[in-house]
Amino acid sequence: MSQRTFSIIKPDAVKAGHTAAILAEIEKAGFKIVAIKRMSISRAQAEGFYHVHAARPFFGELTEFMSSGPIFPMVLEKDNAIADLRTLMGATDPAKADAGTIRKKFAVSIGENAIHGSDAEDTAAFEIGYFFAGIELK
Ligand code: CDP
Ligand code: MG
Repeated sequence: MSQRTFSIIKPDAVKAGHTAAILAEIEKAGFKIVAIKRMSISRAQAEGFYHVHAARPFFGELTEFMSSGPIFPMVLEKDNAIADLRTLMGATDPAKADAGTIRKKFAVSIGENAIHGSDAEDTAAFEIGYFFAGIELK
């Protein structure tokens, strides 16, 4: 069944000029790009987005990184979108990511790892609303 998920091309990948190559991988994998924009977020916005990780030791570094430069938040659609995007992304740590995944190809480190993808239906709904509230997605 067709499903929507949320993704972000993270600041490391945007800075390195990998945006178009990552979008090409996403389209080649059969995702429809339903919404996308380029923006920068504040530290407070990054903290709100990643609130589930607030108690983790990497929270400070993560929110500093995510507010360090432009990002491309987007909404993606296909059958089984949430799980399929996680597979396409690869493991959080690029050293552990499978060959051919976006993180294996483009990530710098476990923190600066090129792409975000929602991990479940409830987090996808929250994350889409966080960046695209009030925007009609067709
Ligand atoms: O992004 P993913 O769902 O694969 O990983 P996560 O466990 O939900 O962590 C969110 C993000 O925090 C990661 O994508 C990394 O950017 C960062 N992180 C980190 O800097 N150091 C870790 N040990 C784990 C995660
Ligand atoms: Mg996660």
